Amino acid sequence: MAYFLLILCLSSVLLASETMAAEPKKPIDVPFGRNYVPTWALDHINYINGGSEIQLKLDKYTGTGFQSKGSYLFGHFSMHIKMVPGDSAGTVTAFYLSSQNSEHDEIDFEFLGNRTGQPYILQTNVFTGGKGDREQRIYLWFDPTKDYHAYSVLWNMYQIVFFVDDVPIRVFKNSKDLGVRFPFNQPMKIYSSLWNADDWATRGGLEKTDWSKAPFIASYKGFHVDGCEASVNANFCETQGKRWWDQKQFEDLDALQYRNLKWVRQKYTIYNYCTDRVRFPNMAAECQRDRDV
Ligand SMILES: *[C@@H]1O[C@H](CO)[C@@H](O)[C@H](O)[C@H]1NC(C)=O
Repeated sequence: MAYFLLILCLSSVLLASETMAAEPKKPIDVPFGRNYVPTWALDHINYINGGSEIQLKLDKYTGTGFQSKGSYLFGHFSMHIKMVPGDSAGTVTAFYLSSQNSEHDEIDFEFLGNRTGQPYILQTNVFTGGKGDREQRIYLWFDPTKDYHAYSVLWNMYQIVFFVDDVPIRVFKNSKDLGVRFPFNQPMKIYSSLWNADDWATRGGLEKTDWSKAPFIASYKGFHVDGCEASVNANFCETQGKRWWDQKQFEDLDALQYRNLKWVRQKYTIYNYCTDRVRFPNMAAECQRDRDV
């Protein structure tokens, strides 16, 4: 009897922790070549340890970038990046998902460099059906040039979550019921690049890239892709509803994740389009869901 109760107890504890856990499945580190190919300026990419690690190089001639081999409808995509160290003012390192067509969907991480010792800014944005203008900007709670950190996107029918390490820094809920388009029928590829954007990136373009410090180098590893692979022209995922990210516990953040999101929003937010009444006298409809509780 006691034994039976013990088993019952244990299994309910297990069940409870399972239904509460909304941590995405742990990424698996794979080499660059498994999921990605260079896109442009191939001679500006260095391969280390057989491609388990790579470096993108920006000099005054060119930046460079890479993209996923596959296109995906929903999933979990992550990359470990070490940003350009030292004087990175004017440079932008980006990691984003984008569909190919004209009314495109896009999910963006953009890391804006800075002068030595000054903080990077992480800008995120979401485009749906070609419409963007949804910028949010934060400072990070660590120096992103010192070590590798994981940057990832969880995308399902219910939400798009931006993570830095395991901390959700932004959630874009599906607000179809409010008349807001949500990416669901255009496969996206994953892209990353390093380029010069000293016309806007650092202090709004006041700080220019110091080319005497070139080449600028951003390092990458991880390259985890776990998505529903679809042909570029597909408009649905063959396994829709059956993958781990489709399940109930990923419809929303859990309590701990909301606490972490709130912490980021309260301590590190620089800009949020949802609170910019000058630029947007009429707040975008989805903003009523842009909350940290
Ligand atoms: C760069 O540093 C300045 C001064 O601390 C700061 O105002 C700015 O937000 C930082 N980041 C960027 C990308 O401009």
